[in-house]
Amino acid sequence: MLMQGTKVNPPEGEGVQLCLNDTLEFKTEPFALVIFGGAGDYTRRMIVPSVYRLWQDGFLVSDFSVIGFGLPAMSDEGYRSYVLDSLQEFSETPSGGEKWDEFSRHFSYISAGFENGEGYETLYRRLGEVCAPGGSGRREVIFYLAVPPGAAPVIIANIANHRLCDESIEPKIIMEKPFGRDKASAGVLNDLILAVFRESQIFRVDHYLGKETVQNIRFFRFANSIFEPLWDRKYIDHVEITVAERIGVENRGAFYEETGVVRDVVQNHLVQLVALVAMEPPVRFEADLIRDEKVKVLRAIRIMGKDDIDHLCVRGQYGPGEIGGVAVKGFRQEDQVAPGSNMPTFFAAKLHIDNWRWDGVPFFLRAGKRLDRRLTEIVVHFRQAPLKLFGRSCEKMKPNSLRLGVQPQEFISLCMSVKYPGIGNTPYPVTMEFQYDNAFPVKRHSAHERLLLDCLRGDLTLFARQDGVEAAWSIVDPIIERWQEIPPDFPDYPAGSWGPPGAEELLRREGRSWSTGTTTTVPL
Ligand code: BG6
Repeated sequence: MLMQGTKVNPPEGEGVQLCLNDTLEFKTEPFALVIFGGAGDYTRRMIVPSVYRLWQDGFLVSDFSVIGFGLPAMSDEGYRSYVLDSLQEFSETPSGGEKWDEFSRHFSYISAGFENGEGYETLYRRLGEVCAPGGSGRREVIFYLAVPPGAAPVIIANIANHRLCDESIEPKIIMEKPFGRDKASAGVLNDLILAVFRESQIFRVDHYLGKETVQNIRFFRFANSIFEPLWDRKYIDHVEITVAERIGVENRGAFYEETGVVRDVVQNHLVQLVALVAMEPPVRFEADLIRDEKVKVLRAIRIMGKDDIDHLCVRGQYGPGEIGGVAVKGFRQEDQVAPGSNMPTFFAAKLHIDNWRWDGVPFFLRAGKRLDRRLTEIVVHFRQAPLKLFGRSCEKMKPNSLRLGVQPQEFISLCMSVKYPGIGNTPYPVTMEFQYDNAFPVKRHSAHERLLLDCLRGDLTLFARQDGVEAAWSIVDPIIERWQEIPPDFPDYPAGSWGPPGAEELLRREGRSWSTGTTTTVPL
């Protein structure tokens, strides 16, 4: 592993030294990780493989324990088999053999319901056994709530009632989104957590923030002097942000039937991307200074009234269709979804940010399931060059655009016009592209690994703060409410398409169109 302060020559050997400080030389303090929902699907897919990878990469001290807490009856030995199965199914790095024996010794299990006080007493005793006080004389305990949102209040109350946050313990809590169902319930949940934990101990996970390409938005904007001066209403015509998925609701019909696209990905992932693209530079790269700027810009997003919502927002729900040549069900035919469900699986909108930088620059947002392809990208469209110097063909000139490919392709590309070879005066769009995989052929940590590591390090930069969560709800609550008032005509897009016709129309009426994630250079 690279050590703190390691100097690395850049690939071209240009004499610049990169200082890989911060994360690279980090070892955790001794800790105990308590996973509520320890035998659940999320733990199996995400948490266990993340702990394993961090351990393999040498980030964890030898003195750590993972305690699964859940309803299924299991012995410690049974839990270790469950952990091994999870790794064999979901970890990219091989497990088993001697190494596995060493790793598995860190795991144990408590079988109890979340409202069962006896289970928390057992947990208190277990923590005493497995977790030696650290240098501060206190034990670091991380409570990971890998449970449905409804279970959080009872777990938090029991943590408090069973001395699991007493003065001998240094607690942290990790919670997955959604944080509430709306602004009011997010506030209630927050009060409840804050009665037990301090804000600096609360790690609200939005896994988009842990993606390398999403983290890079800050770096790209603030580490280059050539783009930031152009990053405002004077040079940018509009911004497009897409979070498109090819998958449907998979085995989460019941969850999605309650949640819908707005609560599932718009209030969190999509809004976080807007914040990163639109925020002002922070005074320093510190968690709260960055989060302050994000909250400021979210508060500047214009809250839509009913008329705006009717004209500037589009909802949709997928019907049966085809994905990759295979017939797939419509949303209403998915397991645990009502045959007449009106829950949207698609969202598009035109947003305005009412601040100095962005006045008059529309942000077009789009998210949905069962779309043509998986595509998360940000496209910044610059204004047309001012003069038409190239005769009639200049009508065809494509304004500059900058694409930040978040996934599945990870790249940054700048589209610009050059002269097409020949005697004509023909501007022709070409791209300059940077690909992550080519530039950095190294294995990277997944978003969940990174976020777990940051929680262990106590770095809150990549976690949502309560004021940001509430500001995001303020943006989407009126949309959810308005859509509940008027029944939709669903389903309105076939699986495998780019969503309902209204989404195309939203841009077409302004002479614009959505990116489809394909190359911007077209043959003449
Ligand atoms: C989750 C949503 O937060 O994000 C899922 O609950 C969605 O519905 C997923 O599929 C998308 O994440 P990613 O990393 O695959 O884009």
